[in-house]
Amino acid sequence: MTAWDGRFTEEMSADVQDFNQSIDVDHVLFYEDIKGSIAHVEMLAQCGILTHSEKDLIHQGLRSIEADYENGDVVFTAAAEDIHLNIEKLLIEKIGPTGGKMHTGRSRNDQVATDMHLYTVKEVNAIVHLIEQLQTTITERAEENIDVIMPGYTHLQRAQPILFAHHIMSYFWMLQRDKERLTDSLKRISLSPLGAGALAGTTYPIDQQMTQTLLGFSGLYMNSMDAVSDRDYLLETMNNLNLIMMHLSRFSEEIILWCTHEFNFIALSDAFSTGSSIMPQKKNPDMAELIRGKAGTVAGRYMGLLMTMKGLPLAYNKDMQEDKKPFFEAVADTKKSLNIFNGMIRTMTLNKEEMALNDFSNATEFADYLVTLGVPFREAHALTGKLVYSCIQKNQLLMDVPLETYRSIHPSITEEVYTFLTPAAAVNRRQNLNGTGTDAVLQQIKEGKTLISR
Ligand code: ARG
Repeated sequence: MTAWDGRFTEEMSADVQDFNQSIDVDHVLFYEDIKGSIAHVEMLAQCGILTHSEKDLIHQGLRSIEADYENGDVVFTAAAEDIHLNIEKLLIEKIGPTGGKMHTGRSRNDQVATDMHLYTVKEVNAIVHLIEQLQTTITERAEENIDVIMPGYTHLQRAQPILFAHHIMSYFWMLQRDKERLTDSLKRISLSPLGAGALAGTTYPIDQQMTQTLLGFSGLYMNSMDAVSDRDYLLETMNNLNLIMMHLSRFSEEIILWCTHEFNFIALSDAFSTGSSIMPQKKNPDMAELIRGKAGTVAGRYMGLLMTMKGLPLAYNKDMQEDKKPFFEAVADTKKSLNIFNGMIRTMTLNKEEMALNDFSNATEFADYLVTLGVPFREAHALTGKLVYSCIQKNQLLMDVPLETYRSIHPSITEEVYTFLTPAAAVNRRQNLNGTGTDAVLQQIKEGKTLISR
């Protein structure tokens, strides 16, 4: 028994049924499908297409299916193919032939699109919330460690001293852009496809604005063919997830490096680490590695759907059923990653002494010091480079160079050079708007906090 038995004389084989069904994936849309149907039927009654008693019966039926579902009493079948036909079948079983009126003026094509739009709006909002939780943790960790100085790197080579707070706050701003992209995308996601029918619209005197409002969408598709075949909003969301995951992956890579014996800047909490089944000493940063790994799979799913879409003629094609699995998985992985990452950062401890600088990260400071004495920067750079070279030969740091040696480089150099060279002085000289100076970073944290709304 299928929804199209009238036209068919042969049964579908079991293999075909299994290949065709999507209920094993789209059952996730249960609540969205019920919500969409309740709004659709409400509108049908208000427009005089169904009677109010028919509407009431269908609404009661749908509510009772919802209750059954919550009690674990609903069994979906592959024979009913997908979530839409499963719910319709359950409804007809429950309330009789009136259940068959629910699909008046609607096609599964605009129905599935409606469900997916509802689902995407919901999940985008949930992800924005998770981003804000992580942003909050970052600002807290930055504030409580505002005095911690660490080496800043370029080319993974020590470059200049920076505040740990400055380093982690850079991820705050990446996440802020991710959040803004998601929020902005809502105006393209929050559109109602209902009323587009299979592709050409509908002959019934429906009110599309009414279903749009009932479902909380902020707009309507202007073209029914576009409405049923648009999957841009899924790809756009997945690409936004790619950027989030890429950012988490970069941060994860730093966490992985920082907790190596070689860096030893941080220790992860045991609750966010794993051990080895053979090497008793091991404590591994598996959470960070998994997030870095999942950034790859999320990107792969995006690419898969993009390839599915690129050759499709208008309007609906069954290929589009393939949108759900990669989308649901990308959403689930991103949400889990944001949540786990948050816990990992919140509970890690810093080895402040290990982060302290004993290196040539203050070389730029010496060059800048010479500039204060009137030496052109290019010459100051060369003089400092020569000094660093000779220090390396002698196995000493700039701090260890005797004042006479400094005076031989420039006669006006005084004792104050040693203060100038300290990491704290280096950091706090950088008070420009987005620099690593303590006051600038505190201001940055303050501004950041105003952007966390919940
Ligand atoms: N399960 C289908 C999907 O996800 C629903 C739409 C089916 N439409 C159709 N014309 N066969 O795409």
